[in-house]
Amino acid sequence: MSVEGKNRVITTRKLLEMKQNGEKISMLTAYDYTSARIIDKAGIDIILVGDSAANVMAGHETTLPITLDQMIYHAQSVVRAVKNPLVVVDMPFGTYQGNSREAVSSAIRIMKESEADALKVEGGSEVMESVRRILSTGIPLMGHLGLTPQSIHKFGTYNVRAKEEAEADKLMEDALALQEAGCFALVLEKIPAVLGARVAAALTIPVIGIGAGNGVDGQVLVLHDMLGLNNEFSPRFLRRYHNLHDEILGAVQNYINDVKNRDFPNEREQY
Ligand code: KIV
Repeated sequence: MSVEGKNRVITTRKLLEMKQNGEKISMLTAYDYTSARIIDKAGIDIILVGDSAANVMAGHETTLPITLDQMIYHAQSVVRAVKNPLVVVDMPFGTYQGNSREAVSSAIRIMKESEADALKVEGGSEVMESVRRILSTGIPLMGHLGLTPQSIHKFGTYNVRAKEEAEADKLMEDALALQEAGCFALVLEKIPAVLGARVAAALTIPVIGIGAGNGVDGQVLVLHDMLGLNNEFSPRFLRRYHNLHDEILGAVQNYINDVKNRDFPNEREQY
């Protein structure tokens, strides 16, 4: 593929223009080639190779166990599939929180080995040294505040964050600091809609919400959740666009019946 052929239609600059023009930004997760191809075709602006792959793909209770190698594998599969959207990859837990030198090597590994477009990290002042060092390498970085699933053991619940004034003030300070450091966008997860709108109005970079209300610059959902693949997860912010769980269940049951009844394969389905 030529270098030109790999240029994405959606760039960090384009996202900024979308905010300036009041055009909402659409973002979904993907972890594999096949689904990434479909959502690219549909016209999505950003694909997030989220560390929610730990839950959705591997069945872990939290996002903590997923490794750098596993995130790179998912990112490579997605990058191979897409032309238009910006591909952002989550830096997994433990690769940037402790040591900013290690953060830079982890970030460079993901970018070199996956050829993704940008990375995302969770947290504000606590990870600012790593944020600055990663940004100094020229890698575009997206922040993530509010409910930060990598800190689940610190907070103890997945409840709505920043309902109290002190936490809301800290979130606003962190958001401004991430912008000041050079982040190109920010994800806000599970916070009051009023606060989401306040942060989006205060920042010049795009603010993408998941459970952060309608006053932000765009929305992100986990693909498997919005397709209804898991009908046990029903937070208020989730709109289901399909019930793939039941569709797949029914299709597989039909297949099993057809095999058992000797109905599959029929004459046209054999050589
Ligand atoms: O990992 C993920 O899917 C995320 C989204 C929920 C924003 O970080």
